[in-house]
Amino acid sequence: MKKITLIPGDGIGYEISDSLVKIFEAAKVPVEFETENAGLDVYEKTGELIPESLYESIERNKIAIKGPITTPIGKGFRSINVYLRKKYDLYTNFRPSRNLPGIETRYNNIDLAIFRENTEGIYIGEEKYENEEKTSAVAVKRITRKGSKRIIKSAFEYAKNNGISKVTVVHKANILKFTDGMFLDIAREISKEYENIELEELIIDNMCMQLVTNPERFKVIVTMNLYGDILSDLVAGLVGGLGVAPGANIGDNIAIFEAVHGSAPDIAGQNKANPLALLLSSIEMLKYLKLDDFAKNIEKAILKTLTDGCKTADLGGNITTTEFTDKIIKNLK
Ligand code: NAI
Ligand code: MG
Repeated sequence: MKKITLIPGDGIGYEISDSLVKIFEAAKVPVEFETENAGLDVYEKTGELIPESLYESIERNKIAIKGPITTPIGKGFRSINVYLRKKYDLYTNFRPSRNLPGIETRYNNIDLAIFRENTEGIYIGEEKYENEEKTSAVAVKRITRKGSKRIIKSAFEYAKNNGISKVTVVHKANILKFTDGMFLDIAREISKEYENIELEELIIDNMCMQLVTNPERFKVIVTMNLYGDILSDLVAGLVGGLGVAPGANIGDNIAIFEAVHGSAPDIAGQNKANPLALLLSSIEMLKYLKLDDFAKNIEKAILKTLTDGCKTADLGGNITTTEFTDKIIKNLK
């Protein structure tokens, strides 16, 4: 049976992971979870933030699903999320967003996926002061042909595989002629390889305006690291917030699916956490594993549960994590 590394994380990570495991068992998904944790709880027990056994598990299974991990502030720890992305060259940050029944928002037909370049751009950490007085500083934005090509290809492949006829590339090439200019040029080159997919080009500021006024017209967006970071959260907000936002970090060999939200220490251990973000991530994971029938079954059960008005407190409902999980299980085929 296919093995998947499960990283519960901490805070509400345990509760939402329990929900995931129970639902997968009830849906008889042919996978086996190998639980390996990372983060502060592990550090307190072992003195390591990421134990060697976790790396081994990810490298063996090539696929993982992860709950939120608290990043301790001011202790010199780097974010584990950022570290795993770098280590495994997970260059695609995939963030799908769509309207869900029973979750009221301004729009009803949002269904779009953002492809954010995850390894370069302004996130490479090359920043410095330019003088001793520290009155001036610069940051380097690095864009490469290789890095751009592979993320743009990911977006076009996704569009092709999902019957979507347009990819929107977001840039600021009018100002950043070398970096964003190259990214845009490569998008134009790659779009020629896809006869039935149109390339739409939008400048980042205009894109922001379009997204809050007319988000339903976008289906696939591809962009550089910083723009993607910001747009992903903007779009998550349009469909109900981070509590319902799934995501994944995908490379050529390894993929890590994750809930986008944090460890929610304010509600941890109170049976209040909303498992939806992790569950929706797990549906994307099942599609990635080509277990589409299982993905559909779980997705339908979730949509039915929401249509029936069942939701956790963060969405204005009044049921607990375990009640929500049990309702989903009842709605499985
Ligand atoms: P947060 O996302 O944990 O919480 C923000 C607010 O949203 C809180 O009121 C929380 O109760 C609520 N919330 C978040 N997820 C929810 C869920 N599934 N169900 C119900 N309510 C939910 O963000 P915050 O407070 O900024 O960060 C807390 C910790 O999480 C920090 O240590 C941070 O570093 C870490 N973090 C980890 C991430 C990851 O591992 N991917 C991502 C973001 C933050
Ligand atoms: Mg972000």
